[in-house]
Amino acid sequence: MTFKDAEDGAAWSLPVAKETGLKGEVSLPGDKSISHRCVLLGAIAKGETTITGLLEGEDVLRSAACMRALGAEIECDIDQGGAKTWRVFNGPINAGHEDRDANSTLYFGNAGTGVRLAMGLVAGLKIEASFDGDGSLRGRPMGRILEPLSKMGLVAMSNEGRLPVQFEGANHLNAIRYRLPVPSAQIKSAILLAGLGAKGTTIIEEPLRSRDHTENMLKSFGAKIELEPFEERGRLISLAGGQSLSGTHINVPGDPSSAAFPIAGALITPGSDILVRNVLMNEMRIGVLTTFQEMGGQIEILEPRNEAGEPVADIRVRASELHGVEIPATRAPAMIDEYPIVSVVSAFAKGETLMQGIGEMRIKESDRIAAMEEGLIANGVKVESGADWMKVTGSGEPVLGGGLAKTYHDHRIAMSFLVMGMASKAKIGVDDLSMIATSFPNFVDLMNALGARIQG
Ligand code: S3P
Repeated sequence: MTFKDAEDGAAWSLPVAKETGLKGEVSLPGDKSISHRCVLLGAIAKGETTITGLLEGEDVLRSAACMRALGAEIECDIDQGGAKTWRVFNGPINAGHEDRDANSTLYFGNAGTGVRLAMGLVAGLKIEASFDGDGSLRGRPMGRILEPLSKMGLVAMSNEGRLPVQFEGANHLNAIRYRLPVPSAQIKSAILLAGLGAKGTTIIEEPLRSRDHTENMLKSFGAKIELEPFEERGRLISLAGGQSLSGTHINVPGDPSSAAFPIAGALITPGSDILVRNVLMNEMRIGVLTTFQEMGGQIEILEPRNEAGEPVADIRVRASELHGVEIPATRAPAMIDEYPIVSVVSAFAKGETLMQGIGEMRIKESDRIAAMEEGLIANGVKVESGADWMKVTGSGEPVLGGGLAKTYHDHRIAMSFLVMGMASKAKIGVDDLSMIATSFPNFVDLMNALGARIQG
């Protein structure tokens, strides 16, 4: 593909002069995983839940719309200074909720987290419902959620394990003991949310830990949940059914998966020195920072603190001389969404960077191993890959650039190549940037305020 072939919606990222680099301070939109969860848990809690810092990305707004269709009331108050507080109230939604629109399909757009967690939550409510999403979400596996839920007693029809999915409802659900086949927080969370409405104690064996925001947030909403060490690197999670949740206040910290983009931009763009404020530092989310530091990245963690049960900090990043590393497979769950941007940073590092145990990347919003390999090669980078690994070889010099990357309607692919253009010899294009709004609506403005030159 050439620039001429790009569709409307294409964008270019032009090299940033080393005399300027990326400079300044930014605050990021709220964490996507936490934002979905507080909307969903607020809808099944008694009393009012208030949320500040909610990510107003398309995916989270879809979750909110679906909870409204199930009878939740969700509103946003704006004070005189412009600060927003979202309120989820008049709940809990339940099987007999009079405001429920029983015939409407719950449409989740591009939101994998939204639909998978909502399937668990709705299964726990034991009501009829149907679920759907856009073309990309229809291509993603839902059997990994439906299989444990049907073991609990859910009766559901699907398109061979994919959307659309129809729940027939159930008279009762039974708790199960379930060993997660892959370290997926979405599978774990769906089972836990269904477990709230099940008879008995749901037990999840998690051999390799994944992000634990559902467990943390269930506690904030007053649920009793037990967490014990399990095998060498895992956890055993126990949740008694029949517990009710009480509304609470959640202040959503900045999303570390979004922070990875300005951080990467500053590392690879000579002359950069930026401060990213208020970033969630949950240990199951910051494998990318460990990796960048191992590559030689100058990253300082400042003012670590706790907010609403989650650790938070500010992060200072300076342009750095980077070298290739081997990223262990055991780190994958703590940085699974960050491999696209890590592969970009690897292209600027000296030597080989090997990413292993990353097969889950192939079933995200796109096949991210294939999409990154294609776009990196189009911009002069040496890449090899296999079913669950990828290797990028850099020379320690700026990459050539000049190519147009196909994004496959995937927000993280688009943002990764736009960051790459900031430090390449020639500009880099992406065929579409509209879907960035699913997770990071102000990405272009925020990056350009730091000194990037992204042109739509
Ligand atoms: C998420 C879990 C991860 C991640 C996704 C968000 C969550 O997916 O990739 O972006 O909020 O639970 P998996 O559970 O499929 O690993």
